[in-house]
Amino acid sequence: MMTPHDLDSLKKAAALKAVEYVRDGMVVGLGTGSTAKHMVIALGEKVRAGMKLRGVPTSHETAVLARQSGLALIDAENRWEIDVAIDGADQVDPGFNLIKGGGGALLKEKIVAASSKQFIVLVDHTKQVAVLGGSFPLPIEIIPFGWGNTAREIEGLTKSLVRLRERNGAPFKTEAGNLIVDVHLKEIDQPRDLEIALNQIPGIVETGLFVGRTDILIIGTPQGVHVQHATRT
Ligand code: A5P
Repeated sequence: MMTPHDLDSLKKAAALKAVEYVRDGMVVGLGTGSTAKHMVIALGEKVRAGMKLRGVPTSHETAVLARQSGLALIDAENRWEIDVAIDGADQVDPGFNLIKGGGGALLKEKIVAASSKQFIVLVDHTKQVAVLGGSFPLPIEIIPFGWGNTAREIEGLTKSLVRLRERNGAPFKTEAGNLIVDVHLKEIDQPRDLEIALNQIPGIVETGLFVGRTDILIIGTPQGVHVQHATRT
């Protein structure tokens, strides 16, 4: 039985492997979450050792940690040339497709992943699934205006339970001021089709499905770190 501490060690091992792909002078997309946190701290160590890096953070939380770690950040309004984005995931399937957004940062995470020449995903082995969905609900960012109707449309499309995410008894607000609904799907056997269909619903800003975006998957396992290369589809 793995303790949270054991899992954190696997996440850290994956993160340390990932930073080996970062070279002097690069612009790095900085993911969000408990796995990405290790990567940001490790990049800070590289900067202290003399490497020149600039980061594009995917959340306020990551921006604060990056600054504390000594990483220079690029203004959010700039047009970036991101060399590599490194981020965690909530689930990954054998085709390297992901569910993300457990922490609510999926919108910036997807923009940064899509803007990067290379996207490296870090997970511990418990995030690997045969089919996306099931144990982890799909987060979808929606705008507050008419959110109940948007949720009803999502329910109609997916025939699944849709729950408004809450924090401390109030609706969870994303950094963009939007809401998140979590969709309890049994299995997502056609993630690309589902993503396309969801994106037809007005009110949806972005879904937590990351389909065909992963270039390198780094998995922390009790037997060591495994690296798998994907072809973007
Ligand atoms: C943030 O919104 C998410 O997409 C995270 O990247 C994802 O939830 C993975 O987080 P952990 O590394 O904390 O599991």
